[in-house]
Amino acid sequence: MTRSQVVIIGGGPSGLLLARLLAVRGIESVVLERQTRDYVLGRIRAGVLERGLVELMDEAGIGARLHREGLSHDGVVLARGDDAFRIDFREMTGHSVLVYGQTEVTRDLYDALEDAGHPIEYRVEDVEIHDADTDTPHVTYRVDGESRRIDCDFVAGCDGFHGVSRNTIPESVRRDFERVYPYGWLGILSETPPVHHELIYANSDRGFALASMRNPHLSRSYVQCPSSDRPEDWSDDRFWAEFRRRLPRAHADALVTGPSIEKSVAPLRSFVTEPMRWGRLFLCGDAAHIVPPTGAKGLNTAVSDVRYLHRGLCRYYEQGESAGLDSYSQDALARVWKVERFSWWFSQIMHRTDDQSAFDRKIQLAELDFLRGNADAQRAMAANYVGLPY
Ligand code: APR
Ligand code: PHB
Repeated sequence: MTRSQVVIIGGGPSGLLLARLLAVRGIESVVLERQTRDYVLGRIRAGVLERGLVELMDEAGIGARLHREGLSHDGVVLARGDDAFRIDFREMTGHSVLVYGQTEVTRDLYDALEDAGHPIEYRVEDVEIHDADTDTPHVTYRVDGESRRIDCDFVAGCDGFHGVSRNTIPESVRRDFERVYPYGWLGILSETPPVHHELIYANSDRGFALASMRNPHLSRSYVQCPSSDRPEDWSDDRFWAEFRRRLPRAHADALVTGPSIEKSVAPLRSFVTEPMRWGRLFLCGDAAHIVPPTGAKGLNTAVSDVRYLHRGLCRYYEQGESAGLDSYSQDALARVWKVERFSWWFSQIMHRTDDQSAFDRKIQLAELDFLRGNADAQRAMAANYVGLPY
């Protein structure tokens, strides 16, 4: 049996960032990850970082590469058919976003933790949280067939949507809110130059498309597809032909295609569980909520939870006050729901569905038209995109 102040379940970006931030303040933690480091780093996720995330990476002392390699984006292009318009984040909010892959954020975190000899257990199985509703919780798990136990003050459930932490909270105190969208995104990564220097979100009659990037030589491109489609259903040629048809003509003409180096289909879902705290167990990130990728809020929202929890834990250990922990669920959820609203709204105005009525389509086009012509609407969109304040 061992002891740690905090046990962190899950070595995705939420768990790793929390571990690193706590270490900077001298608070000890152990990270328990079900997979290997390479497996976690093999997952391709969105790559748009809000200022709040960049600030937190700086606070964690690992912002150097991100500042060096990240691409600062001052705006975004929205398109409706061939009609494209730009939302200028700088002009509207004074801020921009940083394009830098989530995989790279995770790699920076692993490197920093491993260099510092931080305790991380990989390939853990059968993780169970015990007595979270008492002052003396503990976590049990198995690794290489051997059973282990860690006693702790707090447990951070950072184990994603399919983890065990959320289900540790009894159904009698938990409430889930969910919307599943009737479409998915097929995404490919290719060693081709981005079609434009800013992201393009396109609403075409054939469905949604997104032109994104990782760097000037690496593009990330998406098309809306039925969520039942499999990557094998889409040859590279089929993908590029469809992608090109959904982009506004001026951009389609500039498209450079090439072989995909990764291809995957993601379903779209909105999900929130309440509360995000039960006794000494705190949920962070995908363990507590999911957003559809339109607007790239998954990682950013996960990190906003980490920020609230980190502040609460520091206050507890440094000043002996539990107020930050007591208000964690309320504080985190207040921000989560606003981000859920934005991601839902942005998804809603950009995608086409088979059962969309002629009325609904007209309303969707009116939304885009309003956004195109109204500075206040653009300001609201930009404020959400660059990141709401804490
Ligand atoms: N025990 C230990 N680890 C687990 C368990 C378990 N029972 N279940 C899941 N995990 C691990 C997963 O292998 C994964 O590495 O928890 C980690 C959770 O990581 P993410 O799913 O990336 O979630 P999070 O860290 O909250 O990051 C949120 O990542 O999923 C994207 O879109 C999401 O961008 C958002 C961000
Ligand atoms: C991505 O680059 O993968 C990306 C960017 C913006 C989004 C979603 C995904 O809204």
